Amino acid sequence: MRPAEVLARATDYLERHDVESPGPTAELLLASVLGTDRAALYTRSEGLSSAEARRFGRALCRRCTGTPVQHLTGVQGFRHLTLAVRAGVFVPRPETEIVAGIAIAMIAGRRSPVVVDVGTGAGPIALAIAAERPDARVIATDVSSEAIELAAENAERLGLVVDFRVGDLLDPVRNEHPDLIVGNPPYVRADELDDLPPVVRADPETALLEPPGLYGRLFRQSAQLLRTGGAVVVEIGETRSAEVGREAVAAGLTDVTTHPDLAGRDRVVSAVKP
Ligand SMILES: C[S@@+](CC[C@H](N)C(=O)[O-])C[C@H]1O[C@@H](n2cnc3c(N)ncnc32)[C@H](O)[C@@H]1O
Repeated sequence: MRPAEVLARATDYLERHDVESPGPTAELLLASVLGTDRAALYTRSEGLSSAEARRFGRALCRRCTGTPVQHLTGVQGFRHLTLAVRAGVFVPRPETEIVAGIAIAMIAGRRSPVVVDVGTGAGPIALAIAAERPDARVIATDVSSEAIELAAENAERLGLVVDFRVGDLLDPVRNEHPDLIVGNPPYVRADELDDLPPVVRADPETALLEPPGLYGRLFRQSAQLLRTGGAVVVEIGETRSAEVGREAVAAGLTDVTTHPDLAGRDRVVSAVKP
């Protein structure tokens, strides 16, 4: 059977198991198994070997039982980058690309800015900034040493320089005076955790579950460390803009702004050190 026919059957199978985006998911999994890109699947006439067919079948089964597609392919795109991902570290989400975009816009007028990415995970924000602002000095922190290890591997593979440090929020950068602090902190409430779909629950709990007062602590530390006129940019849960904005004001920050995503949902708050 040619890959195009295999894909049609696999799409049907995923659809019957209520998997989101069955067509693109089948394409990503088959391209990963065959070590090719998605477009090539439609031009290849050679059938799958029995080993390839077995691997593809196993990947389809695991996706149907809740394994995220990124844990099966081992990669996730983020802005212009392709990042390695794996279980144990948060998989970067498309909505965070907007956070990185706003962060990059906020340092547009600053030469050789110092940037800190708090809670870097696999490193998407830090690495996107390092790639798009080669003059920036980028530092990234995370409490998870597993995350820092993966982010450092991504940096090395992409030939990008980021200074990775394990630690709580901005503790590892106490001696820095950044122009920009950016982050996508954990923002799921304890009572929301059980309702999350299996693909989201596949991420580590430290990456999802918001410890009480996390945004307030991050804003207070940011207000202490930022240079005058420096900015902090954070991703938020879509219902949280007013509350997170109040935390920023309470920390003494000004110009508190909520930024909507492409669907009009409030997903980012920025604020400036006066
Ligand atoms: C939602 S994930 C975001 C990861 C990455 N920035 C992204 O957007 O893909 C949150 C990250 O913050 C880290 N984290 C949680 N609490 C932290 C803390 N107190 N200090 C530093 N990092 C923390 C988690 O380990 C996780 O990697």
